[in-house]
Amino acid sequence: MNLKQMVGIEAAKHVTDGMIVGLGTGSTAYYMVEELGRRVKEEQLDIIGVTTSNATEQQARALNIPLKSVDEVSHVDLTIDGADEISSNFQGIKGGGAALLFEKIVASNSNKNIWIVDESKLVENLGAFPLPVEVIPYGSQQLLNLFEENELQPKLRLIDGESIKTDSGNYIIDLHLESIDDSALKPLSSWLNALPGVVEHGLFLDIVDTVIVGREKGPETIG
Ligand code: 5RP
Repeated sequence: MNLKQMVGIEAAKHVTDGMIVGLGTGSTAYYMVEELGRRVKEEQLDIIGVTTSNATEQQARALNIPLKSVDEVSHVDLTIDGADEISSNFQGIKGGGAALLFEKIVASNSNKNIWIVDESKLVENLGAFPLPVEVIPYGSQQLLNLFEENELQPKLRLIDGESIKTDSGNYIIDLHLESIDDSALKPLSSWLNALPGVVEHGLFLDIVDTVIVGREKGPETIG
């Protein structure tokens, strides 16, 4: 079993009957969704899933996990998702899979958030992983220019030479910051949030409660 599968299965143990569960996106969350699908089928686990991307929705539908949109539920009990980087004080960068917008909406409406990662994702300070910023196409060149002027090393994310489109039809600009000082996280988040044309960014601050880390010797639950 690989480390992603190990933490996916471990995290699924936190899901119990009657829960409304946020289903994250990415190659680690994939295993958690598979395990929940198995439990729904084999153990008649009674849950409602709230998905964070079209890809996860397709996967969960194929597994017959009952689903509702985030707008059809009063709350989400628990969201389990992957992450791209987690700092020593539990701040995170997400959005490597371009699903940050729905991921942040679901996470913000959840009573509890668990992130599942292999140990390579744990860092002292955030920033080595490029920070994704989701922007609407109109005005995106102006935002690229602004980020350039502010020395944030922006790169429009491309696939086959074309701008990638998120599930909401937006572009992603990745900021190659190398390292973000802890004290700069909240000012950077507020600055990005205030820019016209920015829909969301991948700094997930003060959101996660528990991190499950995949290590060779077994899963470690922190927090
Ligand atoms: C998608 C995400 C993912 O959770 C993140 O990129 C981690 O993915 P993986 O488990 O494949 O490494 O934020 O937008």
